Amino acid sequence: MSQSRDHWSSNAGLVLAATGSAIGLGNLWKFPFITWENNGGAFVLVYLVCIAAVGLPIMMAELLIGRRSQKSAVGALKEAMSARWPGLGKLGALVGFWGVLAGFILLSYYTVIAGWSLYYFVKTVGWTFGGYPVGMSAGDLFGEQVSNAGLQLMLSLGFSLGTIAVVYFGVSRGIERIARIFLPILFGILLLMLVSALGMGGAGEALSYIFRPNFAELTRESVLEALGHSFFTLSLGMGAMITYGSYISRKHSVVKASGAIVALDTLIALVATVIMFSVIFSVAGMRDEVRDSTVGMLFISLPELFYSEVPFGVVLGPLFYVLVALAALTSTISLLEVVSAYLIDQRGIARKKATIGAGAAIFVFTIFAALSFTGTGLLSTMEIFEGKLGWFSTADHFVSNWMLPTGGFFITLAAGWFMTSKSTRDELMDGSEPRWFHYGAWRFFIRWVAPIAVAAIIVFVIRGTDFS
Ligand code: TRP
Repeated sequence: MSQSRDHWSSNAGLVLAATGSAIGLGNLWKFPFITWENNGGAFVLVYLVCIAAVGLPIMMAELLIGRRSQKSAVGALKEAMSARWPGLGKLGALVGFWGVLAGFILLSYYTVIAGWSLYYFVKTVGWTFGGYPVGMSAGDLFGEQVSNAGLQLMLSLGFSLGTIAVVYFGVSRGIERIARIFLPILFGILLLMLVSALGMGGAGEALSYIFRPNFAELTRESVLEALGHSFFTLSLGMGAMITYGSYISRKHSVVKASGAIVALDTLIALVATVIMFSVIFSVAGMRDEVRDSTVGMLFISLPELFYSEVPFGVVLGPLFYVLVALAALTSTISLLEVVSAYLIDQRGIARKKATIGAGAAIFVFTIFAALSFTGTGLLSTMEIFEGKLGWFSTADHFVSNWMLPTGGFFITLAAGWFMTSKSTRDELMDGSEPRWFHYGAWRFFIRWVAPIAVAAIIVFVIRGTDFS
């Protein structure tokens, strides 16, 4: 079967697809919010260190594990873990399966927020042509939207169908093609928004909030939150990048691609934050309004401001929600690909059947997540983890805090300790590696720095620290 394995058609194709997976709601929604919560500056600096010291080495590890075996998460980790000690193969397969399960759950609720971007796109188009309704409260609109069960199901269903349609066509004809078209559009929209935001009065204050470190504000929780988020934002810890790595042909460099993916993801997270904070700091009283609402910035504060404050907001408003939708779509397709690739590689199911089957099964759980905001019923009120009310928050907490770090921990062990150094060296030093890369440094980070850092997250999660 490996003969007919579909591959990225070029290095740029791989980089765009993987960057599309990495750039998502994590960059546009989670990162600005946690930067806000952790008072900017020092937190951003710590985040950059986590990305470089932990995220980048693990990105290389995942891609190389995939490329070496030419198999998706389960098969690849089974091979990697058993390279020295055959007995560990079973554990490897289990870790791979844990990742597939994480992808399944993550996709089931991620789709719901992705669906909101469709709703706001339609709304903003209406406001652009019909005018923003006088006196309408964006907060009330948001509340009505999330508690409307029928609407939520329609939006999520629409987004799921879009995701399935892309993965259905496979790696080079589906995923890569979409990434090649959508990512440049996404970069273009962000650039327009950045130019507009930097022209606003609050831009200077926003930049200093984000880039001027004040270490007195930094707590141990912030450091761990930065570390935890570096997993989420780079799509690490669950085999997504292993799966994408398995479609890299021998001709293309893992190191260069990893560098590009990580750099682009980080850049976009920072740009999104600069944009949002510039808007917020430009409006009197806005600081207090966004104070404690995770969804607030993206779906409550911004929609209104486009029509009152942002230069060219009538154009940028709808474009912004196109941006959110595209960013989310290139992430959801990679999540579905993890599950589909498992069915294809391990269960021998044909791609089309695997994709539709996986998509349908995941949608059942999307229904639970979509109904988590209606305010009544078990789906909105269940509490397994303290303070995490409802199915949506429970699933997000479980994946971000438990599944990604534990999966990531075993991936560092697989690449750093269980594979032979000859095999990892062969994958990384294949003659196409860039000059800045030192194998010895990577090996030190993947054997020591990354596993110890990830183990620290796990210890704190067990002791009750929350990262989601
Ligand atoms: N990186 C995505 C984001 O920032 C979310 C994500 C986490 C993800 N793990 C993933 C996406 C695995 C695809 C595959 O929004």
